[in-house]
Amino acid sequence: MREPIKMAIVGGRRGRAFKPALKLLSEKVQLVAVCDLLDEVLSLWRSEFPEVRLFKDYDTMLEKSDCDAVFIATPLFLHAEQAIKAMRMGKHVLSEVIACTTLEEGRRLIETVEDTGMTYMLAENYCYMRPNMMVLNMVEKGIFGEILYAEGGYIHDCRNLLFYQDGSLTWRGKMSHECIGCTYPTHSIGPIAQWLRINKEGGDRFLRLASFQSKSSSIPLYVRKKFGDGHPGVKPDFWLRGDSSISIIQTEKGALIVIRVDYHSPRPHNMSHYLLQGTGASYLSPRHGNEDPLIWIDGRSPGQSPGNASWEPLWKYMDEYEHPYWRELGGIAEGFGHGGGDFFVLKDFIDSILEKKVPSIDVYDAVTWSSMAPLSAESIAKGGIPLEMPYFLSGRKK
Ligand SMILES: NC(=O)c1ccc[n+]([C@@H]2O[C@H](COP(=O)([O-])OP(=O)(O)OC[C@H]3O[C@@H](n4cnc5c(N)ncnc54)[C@H](O)[C@@H]3O)[C@@H](O)[C@H]2O)c1
Repeated sequence: MREPIKMAIVGGRRGRAFKPALKLLSEKVQLVAVCDLLDEVLSLWRSEFPEVRLFKDYDTMLEKSDCDAVFIATPLFLHAEQAIKAMRMGKHVLSEVIACTTLEEGRRLIETVEDTGMTYMLAENYCYMRPNMMVLNMVEKGIFGEILYAEGGYIHDCRNLLFYQDGSLTWRGKMSHECIGCTYPTHSIGPIAQWLRINKEGGDRFLRLASFQSKSSSIPLYVRKKFGDGHPGVKPDFWLRGDSSISIIQTEKGALIVIRVDYHSPRPHNMSHYLLQGTGASYLSPRHGNEDPLIWIDGRSPGQSPGNASWEPLWKYMDEYEHPYWRELGGIAEGFGHGGGDFFVLKDFIDSILEKKVPSIDVYDAVTWSSMAPLSAESIAKGGIPLEMPYFLSGRKK
């Protein structure tokens, strides 16, 4: 039997969400080390995993822990540098979203994967949600025909996560204070890029992007209520990031994609906000948690002439189009976080190392999707002008 992959985690908070998956996959992966700056985080790990080595310094962990792979779950500004460092030391990397925050970082990340040959995967768990994978399977079977339009949204009121108790800013708060645009794109663009086979053989390619953002009004109101008038965040211009940002992408094959990112507006969370329009079918994800995802299929669904089409629950077609992943492992995955995504991400990463195959979300996907963050900021700063999206595969080594 093969030895399990020895894994280390840096960033012990989000890392904790992977405890059940680590336990379930213990024949293939063994947690050997955790690194975090905070004693309180490390002591939680110490009590549950007494055999695991704990570190406060990332470089020391890389040198001393004897791990084969690192799961990077620190604040997102650190991901690219930590990933590059790990791969240069011969470690495989599973990176939390997003992969990089500048184009330069993205290029260096790709270069490092190409130079070192290490496995790098982005932990974009939303790609693995059951309806998203079922739609992917339907796309692959040609049900959607030619795809012309898609929408994705990350619409999640995270204002409570922007502040420490004393009112100072967390890394998310600093991001809203210092960064404009579509700062957290991959939950929305990831599944859509897979549906459109972006950067895959025979698939499509992102051509250009234009972004816009609203002004920022919801955080100042929240700050006034929570911390009082003395907090600098009561001034709307303290926050560079607007409440909502919209990015429009045109693809080479003529499809249009609209991505909304909003983590400031007061409203209930909507984990899954997608729409896909092809010449053969239309998909609409639930607009709130209790609804079914909806589908209309040309030639099959009720109402076959323009104007009288009616939606059907996506699940009606489960027997035919459930994705093989969910057919095989859905009973296990559905209990895991983010609609099962937290299980599949770890499983796919470990399998790609053990089976020496390209991970399902590789470094080219990771950088292409994440590049929306810096590009949207530049587009907004220049008044919403369209910018060419770099084709990161051009230097790909065969
Ligand atoms: N995929 C998802 O659904 C999902 C969900 C939540 C968070 N995330 C991602 O996970 C990451 C972490 O998010 P979070 O909510 O856990 O943030 P958090 O602020 O709650 O936790 C970050 C942790 O990283 C530690 N840390 C910071 N710098 C470090 C360093 N240099 N070395 C070691 N440890 C360091 C902090 O002490 C803290 O414990 C972010 O990139 C976020 O985007 C993804």
